[in-house]
Parts: sequence; C-alpha cells; structure tokens
Amino acid sequence: MFKKNNYTIQDGIKVFNYSDKVTGKVITFYHDDPFPNYEISDNKLTILKKGDENLFTSSLKKFIGYNKKILEVGAGTCQLSNYLSIGNNNELVAFDANLTSLKAGLDFAKKNEIKNVNFVCGDIFDDHFSENYFDIILCNGVLHHTKDTFDAMKKITKSLKKDGILLVGLYNKYGRLRTFIRKYLFKVFGKKYLMIFDPVLRKTDSKSSKKIDAWIKDQYTHPVERSHTFDEVIKNFKTNKIEFYNSFPSCDFFQSSDENQDVSKLFNKGNEGTKFERLLAQISMIFNRQGDEGGLYIFLGQKKD
Ligand SMILES: C[S@@+](CC[C@H](N)C(=O)[O-])C[C@H]1O[C@@H](n2cnc3c(N)ncnc32)[C@H](O)[C@@H]1O
Repeated sequence: MFKKNNYTIQDGIKVFNYSDKVTGKVITFYHDDPFPNYEISDNKLTILKKGDENLFTSSLKKFIGYNKKILEVGAGTCQLSNYLSIGNNNELVAFDANLTSLKAGLDFAKKNEIKNVNFVCGDIFDDHFSENYFDIILCNGVLHHTKDTFDAMKKITKSLKKDGILLVGLYNKYGRLRTFIRKYLFKVFGKKYLMIFDPVLRKTDSKSSKKIDAWIKDQYTHPVERSHTFDEVIKNFKTNKIEFYNSFPSCDFFQSSDENQDVSKLFNKGNEGTKFERLLAQISMIFNRQGDEGGLYIFLGQKKD
C-alpha cells in the first residue's frame, strides 16, 4: 500500500513524520477540537442510522459496493470511513495529518468492533501511497485547507487506479458568501450570534458542546482556507487526466430544480454544462442548503490514464 514502510506505529496507527509548516499550522489548529467529532451518544448503530438517513452518504455507500480499496484523505475523526466500512468487505484507509483526530476514529472503531479500517497519519504532500492502488479516493473539505489545493489533488490522484473514482469536496467562491458574512458578524457579536444565525448550529444538539466548538472553529476561525470555482476543478481534472463524472450541485443548471437538489444524482454520469450554466449553478448555492452549510460542493471524476 505504501511506497516506503518508514512509519512508526502509535496506538495502532501508522504514523509518518512530516515537516511542512502549513500542515503543522493546520494540525495545531485542530488539536483541541478534532473535526467533525462524535456526539456523546454515538455508536455503530447510531452512525449507521445517521449515514443511512443521509442521502449523500447512503448513495455513496451504494455506489461503492463491495470488494473495493478506498482511501479517505483528510478523514478527520473518521465518521465517514467508519460508516462506509460497516457491513461489507471493503478495505478502507482513513488518512489524516492529525493524530488526535485519527485516535478518536480508531477508539470508535475498536469500541464498535469495526475491523476493516486502517488508520494512517501523514501529510498529503509527502506522497506515501503506492501508485494505481485505490479504487476510490474520497477527499471532502480538505484540500482548501492545505498549502496548495491543486498540487494536493495531483498528489492524491497518483494512488488512484485507472478508471478509479475521485470525489473532492471544496468551498465554493460564490456559495460560501453567507459564511463570509457570518464570519465577519461573528467577529463583532461573538458565538451567541452564530447559535441563532448559523443553520448547522441551530440543528446541532445543544448538549454536544464539542461538536459545536469544532464546527465554529472549522468554519469561522480557520488559519488556512481558500475557496474555488467549478471551472478551476474542471481545468485541474483535465490536467490530471480525470474525466468529469458529475457534480453536486449539478453543472447542468437548466435540468429540473428537483434534480439539482438531489444529491443521489451525483453518482449517475452527468454533463459539465457551459461556463454560463456553471456560473448560475454556483450563484444559486448562495440561496440553498449548500449556502446554509458553508458552500461546500462536490465533484466526482474518473481517472483515465
Ligand atoms: C475540515 S476537516 C474535514 C474532515 C472530514 N473530511 C470531514 O468532511 O468531516 C479537514 C481535515 O484535513 C486534514 N488535513 C489538512 N491538511 C492536511 C494534509 N496536508 N495532509 C493530511 N491531512 C490534512 C486536517 O487534519 C483535518 O482533519
């Protein structure tokens, strides 16, 4: 799985040293509030229920199927890897530079007898994984927090097999507008303002203070954060010989609005639309649920070389 086995094992986690300053800054930032963190009441049944009830995660799990090698890059506290591993023979690797987050994921896996997830700590830019190894690479909400989004994308794509699928989630330049405004108001009015005006916090159980703190920190005080347009992803997919598969929201803005809001359609082959359609799709994010939740959008691509 690795190019070189020069890792140490700490509490069951394979740990590669890293030296990049930006990565160090990001890891220090997440140290006290690993993201996204678990609710106190979480166990295998509750994450299975939540994952199955969430149209994105349940459709992703169905799309993946069985007998696959999957890498989750920037897995954080590993909810997604743990959820995707339940009830199948897939081999998952939860990879993150933050050992504290991975420990939370591993503790959860051990307590709940989840056995098909490997936990690996290291930096994306150190390129640890063998080339053409994984069937699926998932990287949601991570690359815009590194020193170079598209260099990181190039690095992770190397370990994807030909015809393998890459899923990337990034902040959108237009779709994140409401968060940019809330960020400013948070600086002036503080946390109480966010508890009323941030739609995600309004839905979070008020007893889950760790989860609330992790969200506020991640969304409003991050030291390394960028946002990108759809066109930047399309251009970089082409450079890395990745064929567009589909996106959420869809680049095909003029399809029915029901389809535009149906995240399960992400896993059907779609079309990349025109520049104008893509622009409208991104502007519309400001006014819908994605704008509520920080303007994250998802692209799926298939490696062709
Ligand atoms: C916002 S969290 C996203 C966690 C998870 N993917 C999710 O959607 O909940 C970003 C994660 O990326 C990790 N990360 C940031 N830069 C990294 C790098 N250079 N190498 C590996 N992981 C990195 C952080 O440690 C953090 O856990």
